[in-house]
Amino acid sequence: MIRKQPQTLHEVIIQEQSAFAYAKGELSRLLSHLAIAAKIVHKKVNKAGLVDILGKADNINVQGEEQKKLDVFADEAFINSFRSSGLVAGVASEENDDIIAFDDELSINSKYVICMDPLDGSSNIDVNVSIGTIFSIYRRISPAGKPVNEDDFLQKGTKQVAAGYIIYGSSTMLVYTTGLGTTGFTLDPSIGEFCLSHHFIDTPEDGNIYSINEGNYTKFPRGVKDYLKYCQESDEESNRPYTSRYIGSLVADFHRNLLKGGLFIYPRTLQAPEGKLRLLYECNPIAFLAEQAGGKATDGLGNRIMEVKPTSIHQRVPFFTGSKNMLDKAEEFMQLYIND
Ligand code: AHG
Ligand code: MN
Ligand code: MN
Repeated sequence: MIRKQPQTLHEVIIQEQSAFAYAKGELSRLLSHLAIAAKIVHKKVNKAGLVDILGKADNINVQGEEQKKLDVFADEAFINSFRSSGLVAGVASEENDDIIAFDDELSINSKYVICMDPLDGSSNIDVNVSIGTIFSIYRRISPAGKPVNEDDFLQKGTKQVAAGYIIYGSSTMLVYTTGLGTTGFTLDPSIGEFCLSHHFIDTPEDGNIYSINEGNYTKFPRGVKDYLKYCQESDEESNRPYTSRYIGSLVADFHRNLLKGGLFIYPRTLQAPEGKLRLLYECNPIAFLAEQAGGKATDGLGNRIMEVKPTSIHQRVPFFTGSKNMLDKAEEFMQLYIND
């Protein structure tokens, strides 16, 4: 019997491209470039304990957060790959205060811009726990031939052309969507290829995992507190009590819930009235993937994340995402105490 060869990321994106009538293959090539940077970061993450890459970079980023060496390494690896692809006109990254416009001859006419969190879950780097990279791709709105500006990045999430993440976990995976479903590829390190492993992920409508940093409990809105109580109560019919799982890397927490069914919540808190997570390069791409898998993503008050009009590059937003029925239930509690 002839064993079927695994389908690679490259093959699948070429097939997908044929669904878009006027596609010139640029997005496919861009995703391939992105996959190369992902493999470079994967390599580094895998030997992190052996090379001088763990620890602080002695720098504070625009969020006031301490940068780790891997944050900086991943940021540079992805930016270099986008810059050299000739397909990207600029990047907004968690690690850079301002947008980076590629104004050289190779890129100034390019039609895509990218928002990214090059290394998500920084606090888990030094302790061998899953981390990730999140990306979101838009068509620029400014005319080609000029450097891109902030407005090119301040587009609603509904305008995303593609989005995804790489999870550096027990295996490395790339999960992405171009609006035709959410698909996952697992890196086979022996051949250095991302191979199709999760075709058209369909996230459960009901789940039994809730993911939230309960250390902030006293600072949560009343609706979140009451929803957590609901999750912890016993009820056979609805399979409660639910189980609590929180890694502290959005990518890893979301990925688990996407496959198993669950709800991730990072609400506004007393110290962080806008929440903690960033709209452009954390919430919007994850929201696109969630919706394409049949899940939902809102601010907890019925507003779809992808319809929030961004006003600044590093804007934060309260974030609720995951299984549809769990999110609807959490929002019922939120609606009861809208001002508490
Ligand atoms: P980053 O490492 O890119 O700064 O992101 C960390 C984020 C996210 O991954 C995670 O869900 C959240 O911060 C965890 O925050 P808490 O430590 O406040 O729970
Ligand atoms: Mn992050
Ligand atoms: Mn980060």
